[in-house]
Amino acid sequence: MKPKSPQESRAETAVLMMPPDANPMGNVFGGVIMKHVDLVAGIVAKRHAGHANLVTASIDRVTFLRPVFIGNALVLSARINYVRRSSMEVEVDIDSEDFDAGARVRTGTAFVTMVALDKDGRATEVPQLLLETDEEKKRFSEGKRRMMTRLREAGKA
Ligand SMILES: CC(C)(COP(=O)(O)OP(=O)(O)OC[C@H]1O[C@@H](n2cnc3c(N)ncnc32)[C@H](O)[C@@H]1OP(=O)(O)O)[C@@H](O)C(=O)NCCC(=O)NCCS
Repeated sequence: MKPKSPQESRAETAVLMMPPDANPMGNVFGGVIMKHVDLVAGIVAKRHAGHANLVTASIDRVTFLRPVFIGNALVLSARINYVRRSSMEVEVDIDSEDFDAGARVRTGTAFVTMVALDKDGRATEVPQLLLETDEEKKRFSEGKRRMMTRLREAGKA
């Protein structure tokens, strides 16, 4: 399988937050944000892996540093950091855009592990990463370290 650059699978989504997404005070639910995080991570993994069925194996602890309100755009920027055999670490930056203030602030960052499955539901190999820049190499080694930690915590290593 030909290695692929992390640039090939990058994705950004912007979703306008509406009243059903929030509590009565207008604060968007964490679960709504996580749904969109999962969706954009799936798009990145699908772009990288191609035809496979992609499932979420884990999402690392996420802290919401700032609120997102009704009428803000939830802006998610996602990229692949690390690939093992069938698993991929996708990093998702979570921003809130306030149109009135013309400001965009970082709400949090999520690390999502996606696993590629074949048609029989077995974990299947995905392309390795083509690392061209120092930043991509740094992200890869940091992603590898985080993956070892999460597998140890899950009792898988
Ligand atoms: C993810 C899943 C396929 C792993 O199954 P498994 O029996 O552990 O399979 P394997 O041992 O073959 O592992 C497959 C890959 O998953 C990785 N993996 C398994 N558990 C993991 C975890 N908790 N965190 C990160 N990666 C994990 C393994 O390291 C392996 O990666 P590699 O091939 O790159 O080395 C299985 O747990 C599953 O189907 N979970 C449900 C996924 C789902 O439906 N998610 C949506 C929400 S329910």
